[in-house]
Amino acid sequence: MRLLVTGGCGFIGSNFIRDMLARHDDLTIVNLDALTYAGNRQSLADVEAAYTGRYVFVRGDIGNAELAHYLFAAHGIEAVVNFAAETHVDRSISDAAPFIATNVAGTQTLLDAARSGGVRRFVHVSTDEVYGTLGPEGKFREDTPLAPNSPYSASKAGADMLVRAAYETYGYDTVITRCSNNYGPYQFPEKLIPLMFSRAAADEPLPVYGDGLNVRDWIFVTDHCRGVELALLKGKAGEVYNFGGDAEKPNIEVVRTLLAALGKPESLIRFVTDRPGHDRRYAMDFTKAARELGFAPSYDFARGIAETVQWYRDNGAWLESVKSGAYRQFMDSWYGARA
Ligand code: NAD
Ligand code: DAU
Repeated sequence: MRLLVTGGCGFIGSNFIRDMLARHDDLTIVNLDALTYAGNRQSLADVEAAYTGRYVFVRGDIGNAELAHYLFAAHGIEAVVNFAAETHVDRSISDAAPFIATNVAGTQTLLDAARSGGVRRFVHVSTDEVYGTLGPEGKFREDTPLAPNSPYSASKAGADMLVRAAYETYGYDTVITRCSNNYGPYQFPEKLIPLMFSRAAADEPLPVYGDGLNVRDWIFVTDHCRGVELALLKGKAGEVYNFGGDAEKPNIEVVRTLLAALGKPESLIRFVTDRPGHDRRYAMDFTKAARELGFAPSYDFARGIAETVQWYRDNGAWLESVKSGAYRQFMDSWYGARA
């Protein structure tokens, strides 16, 4: 199969490309990535070296229709997996514009180009955040109404609606996946787990929003990648599939687990001003994906967090190299306002 993966220099996309190329000898991948502050070509340096004939990197924007048409024709692309997005909720609160440009307009441009360019299938990678927030009970199902609460999740919900419309209007073969919180190697250090690792390792204070009791369902990144692969290969056109890790944890428990793994004191924890519109709890019902695709997460949280901590310990150079000036500027201004 000849695949175009977008956002492949980000956290999940880079894990997906590495895993797919290792397990499918007949697969070639073109990785289209704009290399924003969150994209790092270095995250796939091993892949570039190992798969010279089967992997191509192209720097570009999913909102560039001409480039997309060229790539589809030049590489005979059969399917698109669209990971490319602006992904950090806090940044969307600070400035929603790039989220609308990439997540909404960019997705529509790529979708139109794929349909008119003869690409057979379009897999769109979405998130549980489009469903909004839960109380203490219940889980999100694929038929839970969308009720996004942040500019990020609203932009992802908008993209989901456009992908759905391409199926309903043109009969285009689209599949949408929605997953819970990922963790693992190569995650950018603005997200909870690598941020807390990075700060704790340097004996810096750990900013926990609100009361620390917001709950997320954590899935190890390669389990999510296997879910996306199953959706690509076995998903039904026009369908949505939820994926989760069956590992619901309050944030404070995640932070304490990390501190214990690093041998650092809990006195580093600081409860800071909450994120505006902070969703209280996410939990995923993924029985549809289990039944129709054979999806099941293989990691429990204890194993996943141990491997993640070890990876960050072993890859301190990667962690420091991705902290650009733009990254530091945002972090200083965002956390400066919450202290
Ligand atoms: P990330 O921020 O680590 O990576 C995003 C990548 O997209 C980067 O490499 C960036 O350079 C690229 N990109 C951004 N704008 C682009 C554009 N206009 N054109 C081309 N490339 C562009 O994100 P991630 O955490 O790997 O998330 C990947 C996808 O999975 C996103 O669509 C996200 O909404 C979804 N998702 C993430 C999670 C999670 O927990 N991280 C959970 C569920 C769904
Ligand atoms: O649920 C899937 C989503 O998970 C993805 O769609 C998003 O792209 C991804 O960023 C992630 O969103 P969250 O907002 O849940 O992830 P984040 O790592 O930013 O925060 C996780 C939880 O930790 C959340 O309740 C907020 C809290 N938090 C986060 C940061 C960065 C803190 O308490 N302190 C922090 O400094």
